[in-house]
Amino acid sequence: MSLPTQVRIIDVGPRDGLQNEKQPVPAAAKIELIERLQAAGLTEIEATSYVSPKWVPQMADNHEVMSGITRRSGVRFSVLTPNMKGFEAALQDRPHEIVVFGAASEAFSQKNINCSIAESIERFAPVVAAARAAGIATRGAMSCTVGCPYEGDVAPEKVGYLAGLMKAIGVERVDVADTIGVGTPRRVQQAIEATLAHYDIDHVSGHFHDTYGQALANTLAALEIGVWNFQSSVAGLGGCPYAKGATGNVATEDVVFMLNGLGIETGIDLDRLVDAGAFISGELGRKPNSRTAVAILNKRAG
Ligand code: HMG
Ligand code: MG
Repeated sequence: MSLPTQVRIIDVGPRDGLQNEKQPVPAAAKIELIERLQAAGLTEIEATSYVSPKWVPQMADNHEVMSGITRRSGVRFSVLTPNMKGFEAALQDRPHEIVVFGAASEAFSQKNINCSIAESIERFAPVVAAARAAGIATRGAMSCTVGCPYEGDVAPEKVGYLAGLMKAIGVERVDVADTIGVGTPRRVQQAIEATLAHYDIDHVSGHFHDTYGQALANTLAALEIGVWNFQSSVAGLGGCPYAKGATGNVATEDVVFMLNGLGIETGIDLDRLVDAGAFISGELGRKPNSRTAVAILNKRAG
């Protein structure tokens, strides 16, 4: 079995991580987090989203965050844009990449973005075209690729169908997301394989939530079939407001620890990453939701 020699991680903590926090997180803390992630060597950061502030109040400070960050050279910032209104707002803030986000399940599409899968693609098409015309990269997040909080198990065929629609409107790369963290290794591989019918391996990433503690196993399963792009949240932050009970993404610290052990290059400094996670967890008044981070912090203290 040969695993990829290098992995690229998008830290989605500032967006996927913080979007679901009940307590307001000041823009200054988000900016500081992004600064610390850059200092830790992250080269891709999902910074915010341009969605309705009535739906997701925590992301209402998108302009403030994007205009407050320093941009180190070589670091790319992505942002979520569900429609043209979101794209036009994002354009002012010069993201490197925009993310349209659809779902493999109809019910989740309705709950999350208030439209059917087919309607979502109609909304995304002009966003993707406008981004490409403006020289901005495009990514498609595919939610509920294994299970849906409303529909239960999701068949790989539905994932393949959505990936095909994303491809048809010109989305350059896609994320296979296990939104509610119910995936297990073989099922996640099937969702990825269905996506590989439309995208090559370099344009598919794994996005695993850790609700049932399977996210690291799923990451390894994805590595085994050649995936080398992943999304994770520093300190295991997060959850989706429209996926009740789902916890955060797999912690970036845990993924980096595993990859280090496998001899896979990430360019990320684990100690500085732990510092970033400790910083934001302190802001939120809790411990990092990462076994690796807690172990390293305990070791430092003792
Ligand atoms: P809608 O109500 O169908 O939209 O919402 P609408 O076009 O009918 O407009 C209704 C109101 O929203 C209007 O305002 C619009 O101006 C406003 P009003 O006249 O009532 O004052 N509006 C907007 N405001 C700001 N930015 C916009 C925007 N669009 C319309 N872009 C919409 C559709 C998508 C906007 C709404 O459903 C929404 O904001 N949903 C939130 C979705 C979200 O952010 N979910 C969490 C992120 S996805 C996720 O976490 C999963 C992921 O991590 C992968 C995984 O794990 O699965 C990516
Ligand atoms: Mg997510």
